[in-house]
Amino acid sequence: MSHQIGAVKTFQKTDHGVKIITVDNKEVQLSVYSPTVVRVRMAPVNTEVSASYAVVQEATDGFKSITDNKDSIILATDSLKIVVQKNPLRINFFNSMGQWLDGDAPSLGISSQGSEMTSYRKLTDDEKFIGLGEKTGPLNKRELSYVNWNTDAPGYGINQDPLYSTLPFFMGIHSNSVFGIFFDNSYKSFFNFGGSTDSSMYFFGAEGGPINYYFFGASTVTDQLKDYTWLTGRMQMPPLWSLGYQQCRYSYMSQQQLLDVAHRMRQDSIPCDVIYCDIDYMRGYRIFTWNPETYADPKAMTDTLKALKMHLVTIIDPGIKIDSNGYEPYLTGMLHHYFARYPDGQPYTGSVWAGRSHFPDFTRDEVRKWWGENFKVLIDNGVTGFWNDMNEPSAWGQDIPPLIEFGEGNNTVTLKKARNIYGMQMARATFEGTKDLLNGNRPFVLTRAAYSGIQRYSAMWTGDNNPTDDHMLLAYRMINSMGLAGEAFDGVDVGGFLGNPSPDLMVRWMSLGAYTPMFRNHTAKGNTSHEPWAWGEENEILMRHSIQTRYRLLPYLYSSFYATHLTGIPINRTLAIDYTHNEKVYDQRFENEFLFGPSMLVAPVASTNNAEQIFLPDGNWYRFGSDKKYTGNSITWVGSPLNDLPVFIKEGAIIPMQNVVQSTADNGNGIMYLNIWYGDNANSFTYYEDDGTTYQYEKGKYYSRGIDFNPQQKEILLNAAQGDYVSKFRNVHLVLHGFPSGLHLTLNGENLKTMSNTEEQSVDFSNSNGKIAVQW
Ligand code: GLC
Repeated sequence: MSHQIGAVKTFQKTDHGVKIITVDNKEVQLSVYSPTVVRVRMAPVNTEVSASYAVVQEATDGFKSITDNKDSIILATDSLKIVVQKNPLRINFFNSMGQWLDGDAPSLGISSQGSEMTSYRKLTDDEKFIGLGEKTGPLNKRELSYVNWNTDAPGYGINQDPLYSTLPFFMGIHSNSVFGIFFDNSYKSFFNFGGSTDSSMYFFGAEGGPINYYFFGASTVTDQLKDYTWLTGRMQMPPLWSLGYQQCRYSYMSQQQLLDVAHRMRQDSIPCDVIYCDIDYMRGYRIFTWNPETYADPKAMTDTLKALKMHLVTIIDPGIKIDSNGYEPYLTGMLHHYFARYPDGQPYTGSVWAGRSHFPDFTRDEVRKWWGENFKVLIDNGVTGFWNDMNEPSAWGQDIPPLIEFGEGNNTVTLKKARNIYGMQMARATFEGTKDLLNGNRPFVLTRAAYSGIQRYSAMWTGDNNPTDDHMLLAYRMINSMGLAGEAFDGVDVGGFLGNPSPDLMVRWMSLGAYTPMFRNHTAKGNTSHEPWAWGEENEILMRHSIQTRYRLLPYLYSSFYATHLTGIPINRTLAIDYTHNEKVYDQRFENEFLFGPSMLVAPVASTNNAEQIFLPDGNWYRFGSDKKYTGNSITWVGSPLNDLPVFIKEGAIIPMQNVVQSTADNGNGIMYLNIWYGDNANSFTYYEDDGTTYQYEKGKYYSRGIDFNPQQKEILLNAAQGDYVSKFRNVHLVLHGFPSGLHLTLNGENLKTMSNTEEQSVDFSNSNGKIAVQW
């Protein structure tokens, strides 16, 4: 039998909002976090409130006004009006102009069946839904349903669900408005966006725990993302090297083989910053060990990599092999009872790569601390990046007994509640531990499983994909959608993990890889090599060129990462962020398109298509490379040969570039190529730079410089630099696209020279704190 929530019996003001008790003994708390963020928690009276793994903010001191009417209670913040209907209890959200945003379905509201609670909500005819992170399917999730239950999903189908992670933040879009909901509940949860309900309602809920959601009332997707990442935290700056090209495979079987790959990168002038060790570097898959035969001298290996200006990332799975023969992680874990356990206290045993294994209980502080300290054996050997895999957690057969326990004393929970946060807590332990050990340097952490808030600790990738065009295109929808859920630093196994891509697909995917926040090429055992030289000379040239493009764009990309660090707006942006109310954005022909940083539009195209119909949103656009001009808000056929992925530049774009370097540790020729594309609207961009490796930027050691393009004043301005860091660029070359003629350059008002609109101009960059202006 299901139970529908009843009428309001009492309500009282609390420190953070209001508390309502219903006639059927449900307690509903509304708490204000900011004028646009309000939490709604509904549970049986006296249910204990558990801490959130995702949320890093505290509630503030409540509503601006509370009005108790006969039939309803009206709650207001500066931005929201919330109407709580008393009988039966229904909650509806309006913006400050009185426009309805979202609320309970009139007929159902919050309902429960045993321990399972569901929020049934009103659906409007024109409503669309975006978000939920790493989910398959289209951009607009209307009429679809999803489950969050972190799952190892090798070779997942392009509509398969659930996958590896749980990022339960979504946005609804209707009648020129938006709202957001973050359902912070780690039990197995479900979301149904109007599938099979005659379009009268949508709903979400979970098998256990309260209905506990944060309602976001900001009026644009951009502000929604700022609020969501304010609530759940933003990423710190990743090491610059992790934005370089990353070469992986399962596995480089020996340190010699791995070094051969590294040397070949340099020999073939393929820029590269990172090589990976997959599971075979270990002794019999025992984590925190090295294979004494095949990886006999890891320090010598990382020293060589260092000399080549490359970094090593090693994989670490959570399962610790049962081996009492001197294997420290196992012995220590057993001694201190650090493993997830059966109700009788015996550690849970599951089988993974290492065979029978136990699984650390990452929900406990002391276990996370111990876990972190174990990385010494990697860090002492020069490893700087840490790849957390199999942390759904995965055990062969998948179905781990639901009664397995985590936590201690009153905080003991079962797998039902812990599963979806397990991977995140592993990544957290890895990040916090390695950050401590790296003496002020930034670790790079990569995780497969996750929960909301993961952006504070780790990058993510989309798991074991397939070498097909469909999968490649799906990857960009998933990455865009993960960006909508606060996780901006994402990658995909370029080329596809399981099986062999066609050479054309490999080439195309590498060209898209350049426009992926994390650019990693990876493949499984037994597959054709994925390194660029394995595909013949012509293809190698194309792939080299794609990787070079990535390196040329690094000043723009790193600056965009800094913007993400400050605001939460992702690097790869579905067009739904900037062009939310344009229907074309959701058209399945165009839904894979995204902005890379603020000003570049990338249209992923199947490797089989030499031409493609694309949608360009409002404004004028230039094709990257040829500068051919296009008028926006239009659908156009464009050429998409393998050597020219359709990438477009928004008019007014300010894109700092550098010359091609082989590693992010190379300073290059000291020249910034400041590319600006002419347009009618003003634009500005903040160039950002720091040492790329430490946290000194948090103490002001950075270089940032606002660059303005003002067509009305006919002026480009480089404003005074800020911060204590000296830029690696000594000069800036202005590379102007589509500008009128008659340009002249001034420094602090003094005329430097007149220039043509095509020649590149050199300006002293590093020593000038003054204003550099170009006028026409
Ligand atoms: C999992 C990972 C994959 C890795 C393999 C071996 O399948 O998803 O990336 O290569 O395990 O460690």
